[in-house]
Amino acid sequence: MALRTYKSVAPNIGERCYIDDSSVLVGDVTLGDDSSIWPLVAARGDVNKIQIGERTNVQDGSVLHVTRRTTQFPEGFPLIIGDDVTVGHKCMLHGCQLGNRILVGMGAIIMDGAVVEDDVFIGAGTLVPPNKRLESGYLYVGNPMQKKRPLKDSESAFLKQSAINYVMLKDEYIEDSL
Ligand SMILES: CC(C)(COP(=O)(O)OP(=O)(O)OC[C@H]1O[C@@H](n2cnc3c(N)ncnc32)[C@H](O)[C@@H]1OP(=O)(O)O)[C@@H](O)C(=O)NCCC(=O)NCCS
Repeated sequence: MALRTYKSVAPNIGERCYIDDSSVLVGDVTLGDDSSIWPLVAARGDVNKIQIGERTNVQDGSVLHVTRRTTQFPEGFPLIIGDDVTVGHKCMLHGCQLGNRILVGMGAIIMDGAVVEDDVFIGAGTLVPPNKRLESGYLYVGNPMQKKRPLKDSESAFLKQSAINYVMLKDEYIEDSL
């Protein structure tokens, strides 16, 4: 069972989403239309909320979690992910905010309070430390991350194309399961 209620809050799933049976979504998790969750993803919206936009894909083995509200941080650190975002295999997204048309490379780690603006490419294995801001239109790589260079036109175009590819792929999976 991929969807679990926690403290009477159940995941809220949009239209035409694909959620692999082996993934687990717990509690306050919102998934926008045409988004997809691939095998072995864990998204735990227990001590704060997880909000995922439309046409976004979260690939195999990724872990999504949040940080609770405290007197020091009254909002805590929810996890907000925008539209047309690709989250590659085995990423760790924790209490951060991602805009639209972003590619998070395989194995990347993004920590609490980090903000990724629209149209950013994050290389495989990148570590984004807490509270960093990643500027729109750039490639970031490394541990800790470094701003490597402006995106090439082909890379900017791929951000959107990757999301389109995954919408088509999840449609095939839905079709295959009927
Ligand atoms: C970063 C990336 C976009 C390539 O960028 P690029 O500028 O074309 O890099 P190049 O392949 O020309 O390599 C340039 C240098 O960066 C290094 N490099 C490449 N990818 C890197 C990464 N993720 N982190 C750190 N260094 C990296 C290369 O080793 C090379 O180093 P060198 O000059 O010392 O030999 C690509 O390697 C990457 O990480 N893509 C993410 C793919 C992914 O995870 N997709 C999601 C799953 S579907």
